[in-house]
Amino acid sequence: MKLLIGCDHAAYGLKETLKRYLIESGHEVEDVGAFSEASVDYPQIGMQVAAQVSEGRYERGILMCGTGLGMSMVANRYPRVRAALCNDLFSALMSRRHNDANILVMGGRVIGDVLAIDILNAWLETPFEGGRHQRRLDQFDSIDSLK
Ligand code: RB5
Repeated sequence: MKLLIGCDHAAYGLKETLKRYLIESGHEVEDVGAFSEASVDYPQIGMQVAAQVSEGRYERGILMCGTGLGMSMVANRYPRVRAALCNDLFSALMSRRHNDANILVMGGRVIGDVLAIDILNAWLETPFEGGRHQRRLDQFDSIDSLK
């Protein structure tokens, strides 16, 4: 899968770990930064990933910051973006089954590397169930016209 990944300084270590893992697993990964632990503003990174997913240039993205909160707030401002903050496995599974989440968000200061890899795998492998859940997602589109 072709994935776009980004983080701020608070999740730099986690992003590097996940990027390495994804590449070793055969995924194509484009990294928009951060590229060190030097302080950066998370919206600048979140916007790059969310814009490209919103425009359909990437099917899926992964964002990380300290808690995951800021990145998910930024990403969900974009049309067609369904960013899910998942710091546990159940949320990751359900964000795919019921919400067809197209951006996975995690908190580098909340979870460790092993759990993050489990969450990532579950999120990548779990299909969307469609049906009544698609009907509900279709209702999101009316929100975009309010902007
Ligand atoms: C950075 O200190 C921190 O605010 C950021 O990583 C994130 O947790 C914001 O939601």
